[in-house]
Amino acid sequence: MNEPILKQYGVATDIQEILIPADEIQKKVDSLAQAISRDYLGRNPLVIGVLKGVLFFMADLLRAITTPVEIDFMAVANYSPEYRLQGVVRLVKDLETPVAGRHLLFVEDVIDTGLTLNYILATLRARQPASLEVCVLFNKPDHRLIDIPIKYRGFDLPDRFVVGYGLDYKERYRNLPFLALLKPEIFRGPPLRS
Ligand code: IMP
Ligand code: MG
Repeated sequence: MNEPILKQYGVATDIQEILIPADEIQKKVDSLAQAISRDYLGRNPLVIGVLKGVLFFMADLLRAITTPVEIDFMAVANYSPEYRLQGVVRLVKDLETPVAGRHLLFVEDVIDTGLTLNYILATLRARQPASLEVCVLFNKPDHRLIDIPIKYRGFDLPDRFVVGYGLDYKERYRNLPFLALLKPEIFRGPPLRS
């Protein structure tokens, strides 16, 4: 690929293909924000994200939401591989806001198997919010192991490992404003489902 933006970000040797350019992502984020603004008018939702991947999507989404919202974050760490297969994660940072009786909008950058998210949603549901909906930017339906009800959906992606707009490979590439495929010599095998 010989796009100037790849050179600009110093990733021309790493990226195989830009799958979704930055302007298309921004358009989609705006349309999701419009729907959310309409649906949550007067409900003062608490928008929740899990660090760190969602940071970019959440920042752009929130700036395009025009109804009052509050935000909070969680952070999780994986246990051993066996637990990982069940989607069980350890909360390393919990919400600071009490959520009982609140309208919760859970924002996620990517859903693949859905295992992690399923576990987190169950944790939130147990705290008895008034409502709980999911907004995901990149949906990878092919590997879904658990059905996740998604109210707001950005893009459906093929089952490929992608980077950019928050998504990393070994903690790199999160800052790219577009979504891209890595060259095979850079990306070696699925690190998540081994
Ligand atoms: P899950 O399989 O739905 O539980 O996804 C768990 C996590 O895997 C996501 O939150 C991402 O951090 C990561 N992930 C899944 N697919 C990709 C990808 O294509 N690129 C980068 N990270 C990914
Ligand atoms: Mg994530």
